[in-house]
Amino acid sequence: MSQVAPPLTAPPLTAAERAAMLRVDQAGEFGATRIYAGQQAVMGTRSPMARSIARMAAQEERHRQIFDRMIVARRVRPTLLTPLWDVAGFALGAATALMGEKAAMACTAAIETEIDAHYGEQLDRLGDNDPELADTIREFQAEEVEHREIALAAGAEQAPAYPLLSAAIRLGCRTAIALSKRI
Ligand SMILES: [Fe+2]
Ligand SMILES: [Fe+2]
Repeated sequence: MSQVAPPLTAPPLTAAERAAMLRVDQAGEFGATRIYAGQQAVMGTRSPMARSIARMAAQEERHRQIFDRMIVARRVRPTLLTPLWDVAGFALGAATALMGEKAAMACTAAIETEIDAHYGEQLDRLGDNDPELADTIREFQAEEVEHREIALAAGAEQAPAYPLLSAAIRLGCRTAIALSKRI
């Protein structure tokens, strides 16, 4: 994670830019809760990783709730793709869990790599424009980085076909981000 101080000279944010940021972030945190729900549905509560997954899932739930409140307070339209992320997130979590615990961890590591980069880009763009949003993103970004570290420590990189699996999930995540900004 790059901890570069935000530029104090970031150009002012348009209302559309701000709305797109919140829209994609709310969608992403919702998707994260669905991924963990899919993993938990397959892995249950007894696997060695279950406690760690439950803790990460609880943090994602909090992220989602805070962005839910912010999009309401700021009258931002949520993405129309919520039903898609509901199903796709759950399916991704369940499918990787079915491949095994290491694949489930590879999924988390791949997603959080993209989310770390995504939040980093948003913080660069925000600068000092919107301290409430920037502080929220900075706090969540630190937790996403922690999730990636947990997943890597749990053997994500030993998952079957890790490079291919990781690249596919990262591409899917970037696509979801691009779509949720606009739609
Ligand atoms: Fe999150
Ligand atoms: Fe996360």
